[in-house]
Amino acid sequence: MTLRTRASLIVSASFLALVALLLAAAVIVVLGRFSALEADVARQGAERALDALNEMAVTLSATASDWSHWDDTAAFVAGRNPGFIRANLADTTFLTLRLDVAVFLGPDGHVVYHRAYDRAGHHDGPLPEGVDSVLSPGSALAHHETSASHREGILVLPGGIFLVASQPITDSLGAKPPVGTLVFMRSLDAVEVQRIAALLRQTISLTRLEKAGLSPAQVKEAAARPRVFLVPDGRSRMDAILPVRDALGNFRAALDVQGTRRVYRDGLLSIEYLAFSLVACSLLSAVLLFVLLSRMVLSPLGRLASAVRGIGAVGGSGRLEAGGSDELSEVALSINGMLDALAASEGRRAVLEERFSHVNKLEAIGTLAGGVAHDFNNILTAITGFCDLLDESLAGGPAAEVEQIRKAADRAASLTSQLLAFSRRQRLEYQAVDLNAMLSGMAEGLRLLIGGQQALELNLAPDLRRVRGDPGQLQQAVQNLAVNARDAMPDGGTLTIATANLQVDRREESERLGTPPGSYVRCTVKDTGTGMEEATRRRVFEPFFTTKELGKGTGLGLSVVWGIVRQCDGVISVASEPGQGTCFEILLPAALEAGGKPDAVPRAGPAAAAGGTILLVEDEEPIRVILAKALAKAGYRTLEASDGVEALALVTARGEGEEEIRLLLTDVAMPRMGGAELAARLRERDPGMKVLFMSGNADLQGAAAPLEAGAPLLQKPFNTRSLVEAIAEILRS
Ligand SMILES: Nc1ncnc2c1ncn2[C@@H]1O[C@H](COP(=O)(O)OP(=O)(O)OP(=O)(O)O)[C@@H](O)[C@H]1O
Ligand SMILES: [Mg+2]
Repeated sequence: MTLRTRASLIVSASFLALVALLLAAAVIVVLGRFSALEADVARQGAERALDALNEMAVTLSATASDWSHWDDTAAFVAGRNPGFIRANLADTTFLTLRLDVAVFLGPDGHVVYHRAYDRAGHHDGPLPEGVDSVLSPGSALAHHETSASHREGILVLPGGIFLVASQPITDSLGAKPPVGTLVFMRSLDAVEVQRIAALLRQTISLTRLEKAGLSPAQVKEAAARPRVFLVPDGRSRMDAILPVRDALGNFRAALDVQGTRRVYRDGLLSIEYLAFSLVACSLLSAVLLFVLLSRMVLSPLGRLASAVRGIGAVGGSGRLEAGGSDELSEVALSINGMLDALAASEGRRAVLEERFSHVNKLEAIGTLAGGVAHDFNNILTAITGFCDLLDESLAGGPAAEVEQIRKAADRAASLTSQLLAFSRRQRLEYQAVDLNAMLSGMAEGLRLLIGGQQALELNLAPDLRRVRGDPGQLQQAVQNLAVNARDAMPDGGTLTIATANLQVDRREESERLGTPPGSYVRCTVKDTGTGMEEATRRRVFEPFFTTKELGKGTGLGLSVVWGIVRQCDGVISVASEPGQGTCFEILLPAALEAGGKPDAVPRAGPAAAAGGTILLVEDEEPIRVILAKALAKAGYRTLEASDGVEALALVTARGEGEEEIRLLLTDVAMPRMGGAELAARLRERDPGMKVLFMSGNADLQGAAAPLEAGAPLLQKPFNTRSLVEAIAEILRS
């Protein structure tokens, strides 16, 4: 669901809920008020109608009182005034007083005279049904104890509902006790009820209670506790039904005041108007809100999204506009920041990747070159050995041809030793080296090396920390760099060698330099020469890569530097542009200890006499043969074995009385058991056993068991003389 759809849904739902809430509140509050008002009006109407009815009863009662408090009437009841009826109770009297029945009762309650008159038909009629029972002797209407008592109200008879007034007949002063009772009755027919209705301007009807339209429960309630019952009839009519007490004190009739529901309808109409205006306003507000939301938030958000997409499409190179001060600008700024960080880390990653693949490539070449150099050294040892033997067996001194072979072998040996240096398989004599002292000591020689046209400057930092390395090899590295600088400045220039302490702490710096964090010494070798193209610069450390003409350079100078620096756990990098000179930067880890001593083989003392038995262990047969011959010539006896296992067996098999072994001369790398392990096993039997190792490949990690530091080692290829010298030296120590 899009943000726009979601926003429109939220806005419409909120407004709908608001409208519904307001309408519900309006219906409850407003309609409630209108209903209460309507009920009040109806109740008042009903009560006014009842008042009017009572008023009518009181008026009738007053008229009856006039008649009953008249001496003529008292005389008539006592039978002393026979002309009374004729003289007073004519038809007109009935019409004027709106009477329907007049009954004169004697003191014991019996009827003295009665007359019912039909006012519409202008003739006498029968007494309405039920009158005899309500006026029977002893009934409340037929008898009064005192002359002040009276009774009036309505009377519900089977023949209809009447207004009745019952007055005691007495003298005009009312001083004597009653001599009878006068009862006037007026039928409350439609015409009479219409009078009240016209007076109150309402539609009124008077009915028996049970016919008033109330439920049986309401009829029961009305008899016990009368109140106005409101009976709405649809939206237009409302009946206010009020139970009416009759002259005998019972609730037998009900006044029904029918009112219009104008108030209620007005309320409904108001609510309808309110609802309509609420819906209209809400719709308008919702649309307005949505348009504003869309213009001020959603559209800028959409633009931001498409701008971000655009940047993604062009590989993240562009940036977003972030001019404003609102949240969207902040988002844009954050995205820009993130893109910058991404670009930076991408750049770092590319540099690291390139460096990693470069190092990997050089390592792979190193492994190959080291392997080749190792095998070559064995061959060269054999060649030089046989040259030596050939020389001695030739009568008349060394032949020129043999000398040529030896020279060629020496050249080849120099190549293999450089390859070994590159492949980090040289044996280094580690110690804490003061680079400043080393460089100062080399200065004179370097000046001679680079010649008169180029100047040499040394910028040596004071308090320079020492580094862990082999001084001879480090000198070799500086020398190779100086020679390259000289070659790059044929028309003169300056070679600057500088040193400085460097503390690498931050991750970015450590990544940039390609070293783990720690303390380093930096040595830069900088010239003002021709500089290099990118293509050259990328390949300078590869062995045999040279831009020099054939015969001038081997392309191994920088490979050796690379190998030496790496073997000292350092890193080397180059910065160069054509015409801008070149700067090599070497970082070497600072030595932890303050100083260090060279692990050197002691070389003093007088020469030891030759002779005795040497255990010669070498897997390459030609070399073993030459070495055995050379040793024999030098006066030693040899026991020969092709690997450690065979040598051990040989030693174990020797008898008691046999001559002791003076020295173990063994190759380092051999199948089954190497030289280091063999030496250790033999020393278990004879702790004083002297050992001289030989190796064409002194990579300590390469051997199955590593050589201990400082163990005497003869680097292949060697000639027979240096072998004999080395043996003599060890036997002397
Ligand atoms: N200081 C420098 N200025 C310009 N180019 C250099 C510099 N040092 C090295 N190079 C380039 O790097 C190449 C390789 O150098 P390297 O020292 O490994 O071999 P080389 O000098 O050609 O031969 P070698 O050192 O074995 O006699 C050089 O041929 C040269 O092109
Ligand atoms: Mg060189």
